[in-house]
Amino acid sequence: MVGNGQPEVNIGLVGHVDHGKTTLVQALSGSWTDQHSEEMKRGISIRLGYADATFRHCEGVEEPECYTVEEECPDGSESEPLRTVSFVDAPGHETLMATMLSGASLMDGAVLVVSANEPVPQPQTEEHLMALDIIGIDNIVIAQNKVDLVSTDQARQNYEEIQEFVEGTVAEDAPVVPVSAGQEVNLDLLIAAIEEEIPTPDRDPDADPRMHVARSFDINKPGTTAGDLAGGVLGGSLVQGELEVDDEIEIRPGREVEEGGQTEYVPIETTVRSLQAGGKDADTVTPGGLLGVGTGLDPALTKGDALAGRLAGPPDSLPPTWDGFTMNVDLLDRVVGTDGGEIDEISTGEPLMMTVGTSTTVGAVTSAREGECEVNLKRPVCAEPGAKIAINRRIGARWRLIGLGTLQG
Ligand code: GTP
Repeated sequence: MVGNGQPEVNIGLVGHVDHGKTTLVQALSGSWTDQHSEEMKRGISIRLGYADATFRHCEGVEEPECYTVEEECPDGSESEPLRTVSFVDAPGHETLMATMLSGASLMDGAVLVVSANEPVPQPQTEEHLMALDIIGIDNIVIAQNKVDLVSTDQARQNYEEIQEFVEGTVAEDAPVVPVSAGQEVNLDLLIAAIEEEIPTPDRDPDADPRMHVARSFDINKPGTTAGDLAGGVLGGSLVQGELEVDDEIEIRPGREVEEGGQTEYVPIETTVRSLQAGGKDADTVTPGGLLGVGTGLDPALTKGDALAGRLAGPPDSLPPTWDGFTMNVDLLDRVVGTDGGEIDEISTGEPLMMTVGTSTTVGAVTSAREGECEVNLKRPVCAEPGAKIAINRRIGARWRLIGLGTLQG
C-alpha cells in the first residue's frame, strides 16, 4: 500500500437505481467518508459521489474472513492495511447517464450492483454494463445485493439470470458475489473478489501529471472580503504522474471569453497552492482517488463547475484542444434499455452529445460516412487522438447512448 494512505485505485459503483450502491459504499467505507472536509463533501460528492475505503487483512485468519474494513480483528489484534481504494458512486437515475459516463473515464474497475429481488436486467443495469463495455472497463465484480430479502431458491434463480445476462459481455467472467449491503453480509467475500479482480494499475511516476477536472468550485462564504478570499478549487482525479504543491499547471480548453459575438476558449495557467487527497491535506498526490486542488485562480473562474470537463497538467504538456474532429464510429446493435429500438446510421446535420474523458459536449455532424463522421463542437475538448468517445443521440425526450467513437484528429 502507498505509505500515505492515499487511495490508489478508482472503483466505480454502477447499477440500477435503488439496487444499493450507496448502502454498499457506506458499509465498506465506514468512518472514512466522515473525514472529508466540508468543501469536498459539498463539492465533489454531490454529482459524482465518492468515498474511500481501506481494505485490511487479519493475520492468521482463513480466507475470506481475513478481509475486513475494521481496524480490529476478531481476536482483538490490529488488522493490517492492504490498500485504500476510492469508490466512485455513479448515479443510477436514467437522465444521469452522461454523468455516469464521465465518471467511467476515471474508473480502473467497477462493481456492478444487481438487486436479487428484481428480474434481471433492469434498464440501468443493462445501460451501465454497456457503458463499461464501451469505455473498456473489464475489471468487474458483480455484487448480487439484498440477498436477505429472498429465499435460497430465488437467490439461485436470480444468480442464473445474472449469468445469462452477462454472457458475451465484458462482465462474462466477472465473479458474482451474493451480499447484503444492508445487513453487512459477505462483505469479506466481496473485498476478496475486488482484491483479485481489480488490481491497482501500473503507474509511471515520471509521466507528466494529468488531471481530469470533474468539478470546480468557489469555497468562499458569501461576504468574504477580497483579502481573505481563497483561490478557486478544482476537484477531479489524477490519471498519471504526481502533482505537488507549488507546481505550475495549465488548464485546457480553459475559460470562455466572448469577443465581438464570438466565443473563444483561452487556456489558463495557475499555481497549485494546496492539495487534498483521501480526506487529508497533502504535499504530493499520486493517481487514484479524487482530489481537491486549491489554486491561485480567481474563485469566480471556478464557481459552479465552470471548469468541469477540462484537463490540467504542466504548461505545454497537454494534448490538443479540438473545436471539431473526425471520429471512427462503432454503433451499438440497438438502443439499450426499456424500449430498445434499432439504431440508424448517423446522418449529416444531426446533433450528437459526446462524452470525452470527463467532458460532455454537443456537436453537429458536418459529414457522415459509414464507420466515421466529422463533428463541429459547441464547446471544445482537450483530448489525445485515440481517445474514446461515448456517442449519444436524442431519442424521444432524452439522450441515449448509441455507440462508441474513437478520436482520429
Ligand atoms: P441510487 O443512488 O439512487 O441509484 O440508489 P442506490 O443504488 O445507491 O441505492 P441505495 O443504497 O440508496 O439503496 C436503496 C434502498 O435499498 C435503501 O432503502 C436501502 O436501505 C435498501 N438496501 C440497500 N441494500 C440493501 C440490502 O442489502 N438489503 C435490504 N433489505 N435493503 C437494502
